[in-house]
Amino acid sequence: MAIRTIRQAGDEILKKKSKEVENVDEKIVELVEDMIETMHKYNGVGLAAPQIGILKRIAVIDLYEEGDGPVTLINPVILKEEGTQTVDEGCLSFPNQFAKIVRPKKVIVEALDKDGKNRTIEAEGLFAQAISHEVDHLNGEVFVDKIIPGTLETYNPEEEKKDKKKKK
Ligand code: NI
Repeated sequence: MAIRTIRQAGDEILKKKSKEVENVDEKIVELVEDMIETMHKYNGVGLAAPQIGILKRIAVIDLYEEGDGPVTLINPVILKEEGTQTVDEGCLSFPNQFAKIVRPKKVIVEALDKDGKNRTIEAEGLFAQAISHEVDHLNGEVFVDKIIPGTLETYNPEEEKKDKKKKK
């Protein structure tokens, strides 16, 4: 396992659309493990493969105390979105930036897990927000492009340490 470098705002790869994974083989499993390790290292709630420079449709999410451990989504497809929630959001590729954004309140997503098994997950609240955010990354979309205008705030890292806001 290894910590990967997170691509930051302005990196063109973040605007590119990722390709489907054809086969969940050992290399993909290793990549997923690195992504989980990297997400944990930087206290992220989620991480998508393009954020570490790999244009594959893979995302990992961990809600920590609000969830049941890391979730892997390979080739995720959102089947249904329901309702909306206005939430505070950040992203590991946009350090220290947070803004308000409207996300679906509930999503139903179909994806392969890291064993290559097809799963359907029903998510709400933070989990639904994270899925929506990560699937956007796989489509080359970043949260700052969708925020409620005028809500972007930049925190200085010292304040952020005290605050421990979760990033995706
Ligand atoms: Ni993100």
